[in-house]
Amino acid sequence: MENILKSFIVFEGLDGAGTTTQIMNLARYYEFNKREYFLTREPTDSPIGQLVRKVLQKKVSTTPEALALLYAADRHDHLYSESHGIVRMTEEDRIVISDRYFYSSIAYQSVECNPEFIRLINAFPSPEFIIFVDTPVDECLERIEKRGEEKELFDRKEFLEKVRENYLKAFEKLPDGVKLMKADGSKPIAEVEAEIRKWLSSFSL
Ligand code: TYD
Repeated sequence: MENILKSFIVFEGLDGAGTTTQIMNLARYYEFNKREYFLTREPTDSPIGQLVRKVLQKKVSTTPEALALLYAADRHDHLYSESHGIVRMTEEDRIVISDRYFYSSIAYQSVECNPEFIRLINAFPSPEFIIFVDTPVDECLERIEKRGEEKELFDRKEFLEKVRENYLKAFEKLPDGVKLMKADGSKPIAEVEAEIRKWLSSFSL
């Protein structure tokens, strides 16, 4: 039996896919229903996660492999830290919702690094639930552009297409017990939100 973290919900998707919006809406819903949950994200806000963000902002430069290791180090701390570790929280039967998890590394870092290396350094426990907000690359790019975050749209398009392919490949062979929902991110936000809620509530979440 694979190691699966109970009531751990992971949201994945391309940049601009709308995962953060969906997470905030789900959190608001749990809040309203007085469900206990813990909201978190990767890269985390820990010192390692902050270093990752500095690399993304081009304030610190390193190799793609070192960045992949930093993501993995941030994740290890995120899971096993004594003070804020996800593993302990799930053992205490709390719902944990994370904006990204190791599938992001499989999808993104495998574009520039050896996919086997990325798999190897990401041998982490699986979440019980994965919600993949699948939004067409062109739509993601439009949203990113509106936020004023990205300029090299052409390179970005090819890159995100590869990331999407890597995600889909990774989701083809999930361990038994890991439940995957693919949400159509091109639909209106409220519709996607309702589908996600309905899906989770079918598992009493
Ligand atoms: P993101 O959650 O989009 O951060 P923000 O809310 O600041 O926009 O994540 C930052 C970027 O990091 C995003 O492009 C995806 C990428 N990423 C990886 O490449 N590998 C990973 O393992 C993770 C967690 C994120």
